[in-house]
Amino acid sequence: MKVVFTLLLLHSVLLHYGQTEEPDLMAKENSNQPNIWTEVRNIRDMMVELRVKLDIMMKENAKLAEHILELKKENAGINDQLKAYETQLEEFKRDNAEKPKVAFSADLGIRGDVGPHNTEITLKFNNIFTNIGNNYNPTTGIFTASIKGVYYFRFTVCGVQSAKSMGGFLYKNDMKIVSVGQWRNHDQHRYASNAAVLQLEVGDVVSMKLLPGYTIYDSPDNLSSFSGFLIHPL
Ligand SMILES: *[C@@H]1O[C@H](CO)[C@@H](O)[C@H](O)[C@H]1NC(C)=O
Repeated sequence: MKVVFTLLLLHSVLLHYGQTEEPDLMAKENSNQPNIWTEVRNIRDMMVELRVKLDIMMKENAKLAEHILELKKENAGINDQLKAYETQLEEFKRDNAEKPKVAFSADLGIRGDVGPHNTEITLKFNNIFTNIGNNYNPTTGIFTASIKGVYYFRFTVCGVQSAKSMGGFLYKNDMKIVSVGQWRNHDQHRYASNAAVLQLEVGDVVSMKLLPGYTIYDSPDNLSSFSGFLIHPL
C-alpha cells in the first residue's frame, strides 16, 4: 500500500510540474518554489528504502508461513498418535470388561478344632472375605470352576495341642495335589501352608480336606484360611 501511495504521489507531483511549468526548471531555483529535483531524489531514496524493507518483510513472511506449515504437520502427527492411543485404551477397557473375574478367600470361621474324624472330611471355610464369581461354595467347601483356565490356590492351617496331629490337603477332583502336616509333639499354634497353580476345565472341583485322625484349629483371629483365583482363562 505504502509503495503504491508513494508512486501515486510521485506521479501527481511530476504531473503537476509538468503541466504548469516550462521544462526550464533551473530558472525557478531562486524563486520560492521548492526544488523539484531535490523532492524527486528524496522520493526515490524513500522508495529504495521502502523496497528494501518490503523485501525483508516478504522474506520473513515466507519463513513464518513455512514454520506454520511445519507446525501444522507436527500437530497432525500428534493428533494421529493420540487417536491411536485412544483406540488402544478402548481395546484395553473392553478386554478388561470382558475378562472373567473369579477370586475367593475364606477362613474356617470356627472357634476350636475341626476333627479328629474317622473319615476324610471336606473343610468348610465359611467366613467369606471375598467370593467374586461365587465359584466357591462355603456350605460345601467346594470350589467349582465355571471357566476353563489357570488358577492359583493356597491355604494356611493352624494346629494346637501337642497330642493332636494337624494337616491339610488340597484336592483337585479326587486327586490329592499338595499337603501339609505335623505329627503330634508340636507346640501351641503351629502353621503350615502350601499352594498350587492348577489348570481346570469347566466343572472341575477343588477343595481342602482333613484326613482321618487329624485336627485343624481356628479362632476369631482367622488362623486357617483358603484362597484361590483365576490367573487367566484358556
Ligand atoms: C476375622 O474375620 C472377621 C470376619 O470377616 C473379621 O471381622 C475379623 O476382623 C477377622 N479377624 C482378624 C483378627 O483378622
